[in-house]
Amino acid sequence: QQQEKSALLKAHEFAAKLYNYILGNTDQGKVALEYLRSRGVSDKLIETFQIGYAPAMWDTLVKQLEKRGFDLALMEKGGLISARSEGDGYLDKFRERIIFPICDASGKVIGFGGRAMGDAQPKYLNSPETVLFNKSRTLYNMHLAKPNVRKLQKTVIFEGYMDVIKAWEAGVLNGVATMGTALTKEHAGLLNRNSEQIVLCYDGDSAGQSAAFKSIPLLEEAGCRVNVAMLPDGRDPDDYVSNFGFERFVREIVEPAVPSMKYKLLYIRKNFKMHEDGDRVRYLQTAIKSIAGLASPIEREHYLKQLSSEFPESSFEALKQDLSEHLLQS
Ligand code: CTP
Ligand code: MN
Ligand code: MN
Ligand code: MN
Ligand code: MN
Repeated sequence: QQQEKSALLKAHEFAAKLYNYILGNTDQGKVALEYLRSRGVSDKLIETFQIGYAPAMWDTLVKQLEKRGFDLALMEKGGLISARSEGDGYLDKFRERIIFPICDASGKVIGFGGRAMGDAQPKYLNSPETVLFNKSRTLYNMHLAKPNVRKLQKTVIFEGYMDVIKAWEAGVLNGVATMGTALTKEHAGLLNRNSEQIVLCYDGDSAGQSAAFKSIPLLEEAGCRVNVAMLPDGRDPDDYVSNFGFERFVREIVEPAVPSMKYKLLYIRKNFKMHEDGDRVRYLQTAIKSIAGLASPIEREHYLKQLSSEFPESSFEALKQDLSEHLLQS
């Protein structure tokens, strides 16, 4: 097993270098380079993130691995290549895709994310789980972010590769990504070891906002303090940067991230029609229940006061009484 792991680590490192070389130095790489430039990815970012290109041919990587004496059956098990469906032999797994190497916390390449440049499906093809790559423990860019996270005592969590990369260019050097999978308890534990303060910066669509809402309790149970950055509907960090620039991204999105409680109240609120009495009352009750989950009496009072000023028809005393009933129950 240890031998298999070390052979696979070597092969991943080799593949990352090969794809990066092809992107920067070959004719085949030119379209990919154009694509990346059109998305605002500079040569410097390509270097920093070791971005590459897997060409369209069937066996670019297979041939190179074979030439270097790698055990191809093992390479298949490791998710780098695929067995041909008919006959013997192997095919490259990643073809005609931009390649984002995924590293472990120490910077060793353990997998890849491959983005189609056109409308090919799936948009992203990722390495499968292998002896090297455990998705519920891995966060994209942790190896580069870690020293900055330690220094700033803060981690910013994004959904995807491009978000991390564009945010990096904007000076957000403490960003990692869950790569589209749900944040796990394990992720939360690992994050809390590096910094207690977390900023969730997920896409401004309903999938992203619901992922943020669900990640909050996991992170808080692990001991983190969570703020949530809010993107306008339909925007993600990467295209916010493309449309409005680095400076506005930091100033308008990352810095004003709101405390998790405020975010939760805004999120819950969307399910209620605030001009209808019944919904107003039910929103108040739901909101108070959520506030009752705060450990600190000062924090509870803070949000309760906000609610009461927003809902002049309900007295602060009534809200407080409702809150105390929740506190008694728990
Ligand atoms: N993802 C994936 N497979 C998909 C779609 C998404 O693994 N078919 C992961 C990728 O890690 C992706 C992240 O989920 O970066 C977020 O998905 P999405 O918001 O759809 O993609 P973007 O990162 O915005 O991709 P792009 O900007 O390249 O369109
Ligand atoms: Mn998304
Ligand atoms: Mn802690
Ligand atoms: Mn996105
Ligand atoms: Mn995007």
